[in-house]
Amino acid sequence: MLFIRFVMVYKKKETQANFQRIDTPAFHRNHSYIIEVLKSELVSGQGNIMEIASGSGQHAMVFANTFPEYVFWPSDLNPDHIRSIEAWRQDASVDNLKSPFKLDVLEKNWGIGKVDRPPDGLDAIININMVHISPIETAENLFKGSCLHLGINGKLILYGPFMKNGAHTAPSNSDFDNRLRESNPLWGIRDIEEVSTLAKLNHLVLNRLVPMPSNNFMLIFGRRE
Ligand SMILES: C[S@@+](CC[C@H](N)C(=O)[O-])C[C@H]1O[C@@H](n2cnc3c(N)ncnc32)[C@H](O)[C@@H]1O
Repeated sequence: MLFIRFVMVYKKKETQANFQRIDTPAFHRNHSYIIEVLKSELVSGQGNIMEIASGSGQHAMVFANTFPEYVFWPSDLNPDHIRSIEAWRQDASVDNLKSPFKLDVLEKNWGIGKVDRPPDGLDAIININMVHISPIETAENLFKGSCLHLGINGKLILYGPFMKNGAHTAPSNSDFDNRLRESNPLWGIRDIEEVSTLAKLNHLVLNRLVPMPSNNFMLIFGRRE
């Protein structure tokens, strides 16, 4: 059942700009819980936040609305998702939400600091539901890039299902993991220990682990002292 977590449901809605907004059920289930955690983490009062793998763009839209003091920079690999993010952005008319840019995390150079890209010294990088639906190299590069581009007090904030101490936290997550690996043997739910090791290799440390509804977690990483 939880397999629908990574299935984008395309509700086609024409917008003024004639782009197509994607509406995902997962967004409706999880965004209010994610925002509650962000309220306790986005405390610097202002700055730039990049979202990696923004998908439909709905999270970036509500985050920008909820945290008007921050500038949000959504991105994704998939051109359909970029179009959806832009469509939601245009509908929302939120001043602090930038147009999405194409970013494949696997690229060595993320183009940070270039025109129409976020500046270096980011306050946060947010990544929701990506590391289990991509090869482990994607997570590796997420940590590498975060180490390069986060500011001194910057945070890397992950949300999604994770294993803990080598075990799934619920039978439904185990089923979901099997289905993911059937779809693509390189995909799969990652262990918190595994991603923490990737963090350490990139001078980041897991500062906070927040259990979330539906057997998900939020992981908050910062620079190692
Ligand atoms: C399950 S969706 C999650 C989307 C959104 N964050 C959400 O929670 O609704 C996974 C997203 O990861 C993106 N993605 C996968 N591999 C990526 C990569 N190498 N670089 C950037 N984005 C990637 C996909 O395009 C897709 O938008």
